[in-house]
Amino acid sequence: MTIEHNVDSSQLTTFRTRGAVAEQLYHLETVDDVVEFARYVAPQRRQWLVLGGGSNMLLVHSVECAARVEITDRRIIEETASRVILRLGAGLHWHSCVEWAVANGWAGIEAMALIPGTVGAAPIQNIGAYGQQLSDVCRWVEGVDVYSGRTVTLAAQDCHFGYRDSVFKRERKGNFIITAIGVELEKRTDARVAYDELARRLTTRDTVTISDIFETVVTLRRGKLPPDDIGSAGSFFKNPVVELHRAAQLAERYPDMPRYQQNGAVKLSAGWLIEQCGYKGIRRGDAGVYDRHALVLVNYGTARGEDILRLAAEIKAAVHERFGVELEEEVIIV
Ligand code: EPU
Repeated sequence: MTIEHNVDSSQLTTFRTRGAVAEQLYHLETVDDVVEFARYVAPQRRQWLVLGGGSNMLLVHSVECAARVEITDRRIIEETASRVILRLGAGLHWHSCVEWAVANGWAGIEAMALIPGTVGAAPIQNIGAYGQQLSDVCRWVEGVDVYSGRTVTLAAQDCHFGYRDSVFKRERKGNFIITAIGVELEKRTDARVAYDELARRLTTRDTVTISDIFETVVTLRRGKLPPDDIGSAGSFFKNPVVELHRAAQLAERYPDMPRYQQNGAVKLSAGWLIEQCGYKGIRRGDAGVYDRHALVLVNYGTARGEDILRLAAEIKAAVHERFGVELEEEVIIV
């Protein structure tokens, strides 16, 4: 394991906000490194945190100690005529795993192309896009329990996956360091299209392959989400889920409002709500709302964590005042 000192927050997260520092940054390259960190380093620190690719995090305050899991091995664990089970190291870039799967004709994650961040970060918020989510394919999550310093494997059902949610945001927050995940994919090249916007783009084809889905998602995301040189963490808020009667009241006033039935409740589109409040494309200094997608907050250069947080609070208040809907952050705020 190697250690860097006084690393600025602009180097730690994809938001690249300034003004906070990690006094020590540990690079953990093997499971043994993670065990050693959990047993001997973390208990000595007042405060520590693990960064994935830092792609879903806003760092507002300095931290004494940060760790980055950089385990990058990937293996086929089991293979049959119709399925394959993969073990993916937590430090791999998620997108490179999607490319690997699509190139080999393994279906199940092709619609999750270009989600930034690492494999180890994927289960925490149960990443999802265009009708797929990690929990559809994840079989287990391996990690190190920080209290005991032991390696633990959690079966998928023990991860309590929900919409952008899991046990790693709750009971296992701050006490479990993910080292690898197991995913089960299907060997097939034909694809199931489970998202309207994708279906509309693919109507001209007779058969749709997983490569078609992959390429369409890459094009869609490149069109909507900021390029790498603009700091951001993807969607800043979750899409709010409201009760049926509340959605019906809103729909009466706003017939064009996007809404999606969800077992007895209705999911609204945070991007739409924010755009209606006039925030799409606005800027407060270097903190802004991306002009092609209102759910994405961006750092145009020198924004600090608290600048983004202030803008987020302003947006939440505006959406609450106009629609009576409470937005909740998807991004982890430190
Ligand atoms: N919309 C607007 N204005 C906007 C943005 C969106 O009116 O500025 C409307 C769209 O017209 C559409 C609806 O909102 O009717 C939904 O938009 P979109 O399909 O872009 O998806 P989203 O709900 O905003 C979610 C995920 C994204 C994921 C996309 C595609 C969350 C919080 N976000 O966004 O995930 O890529 O669906 O599946 O669930 C992320 O989590 O970081 C992320 C980017």
